Amino acid sequence: MSERQRILTGDTPTGNLHIGHWVGSVKRRVELQSQHECYFLIANLHAYTTRADDPQAIHQDCLEVARDVLAMGVDPNQASLFVQSEVPALAELTYLFAMLLPFNRVMRNPTLKDELQVKGLAENYSFGFPLYTVGQTADILAFRAHSVPVGEDQVPHLELTREVARRFNKMYCGVPDKAADEDHESLGGVFPIPVADVGRVGRLVGTDGQNKMSKSLGNAIQIIDTPKQVKKKIGKIYTGQDSRQPTDPGIIDPEKNPLFQYLDIFIDDESTKADIRDRYERGDHIGDGEVKMLVADAINELLEPMRARRAAYEDDAVVREVLLQGTAQANQACEKTLAMAKEAAGTGFFNRTFTLNPA
Ligand code: TRP
Repeated sequence: MSERQRILTGDTPTGNLHIGHWVGSVKRRVELQSQHECYFLIANLHAYTTRADDPQAIHQDCLEVARDVLAMGVDPNQASLFVQSEVPALAELTYLFAMLLPFNRVMRNPTLKDELQVKGLAENYSFGFPLYTVGQTADILAFRAHSVPVGEDQVPHLELTREVARRFNKMYCGVPDKAADEDHESLGGVFPIPVADVGRVGRLVGTDGQNKMSKSLGNAIQIIDTPKQVKKKIGKIYTGQDSRQPTDPGIIDPEKNPLFQYLDIFIDDESTKADIRDRYERGDHIGDGEVKMLVADAINELLEPMRARRAAYEDDAVVREVLLQGTAQANQACEKTLAMAKEAAGTGFFNRTFTLNPA
């Protein structure tokens, strides 16, 4: 099988997670953690791009995200879960990398442009807003990660990361101009050129059937929801037809009937799925309620072990201890890279070691 790779990915802390996060990213992380050296980042500095005036909330959100990710099955004995702001090498590399990127190149990033527009920031964004994209290149390269599991929207950031890595390796490590990406390391480059590992399921539609699942839109099933709340939310999904009877032919196109998107994703058994699709489409005595019940049960089955694990992380002190250990491991990896990068770039003069202490 494939060799053990270094993997880095992460999230900007937004508060409690929902099943859209599970489908879109956390599930994949749980699969990867047993086979690879995984680092999962809580990008709290990135949250300051838009919420610099709300530091307490960002601090709390970090703990909530950590708690939920742990509840979903990220295992601190296999992967390192860490806080961005407590890994100084990330900020230091950001400074160096910012010198390697033309300003216009940074501003051309389509994901960045989108965000500025969607958030209605026009000309009123901080210097740090575009800087976060450079910071993201540092998050990845500091680990000398090979692979970065992300959603489609993060691909432009990965492209920027690959450009920085190539430029650094050529400018400071003597990697020849025409070197192929996969040869950079063997030719003496500090940084492997990382690849984006784009998930198959990018986004889960919310229970409103309209928008991407999002807590702020009120269309999310959160992992802290009780079994009853899950049933209620699934019960409200619009199935594309008003007052459909069990004998009416139904719509099974997941684009038009979100219930069938949920069926596809949350019910594993292929023959059950095929049978339901077939009967529903023909109107063979199957009501919306029956399908909804099956989907709600499947989601509750998925959430059950998460609820149990979450209970074990209820105490902030337990979560903080996991973050402390993970952040110490992250620093160990990043300090090594930083020393190599400083040596190559001429900014290194001395050796250093430092340790994190619990608060
Ligand atoms: N920008 C990512 C998001 O908002 C979070 C992030 C920060 C990230 N640094 C990263 C993701 C490095 C992958 C790799 O979701």
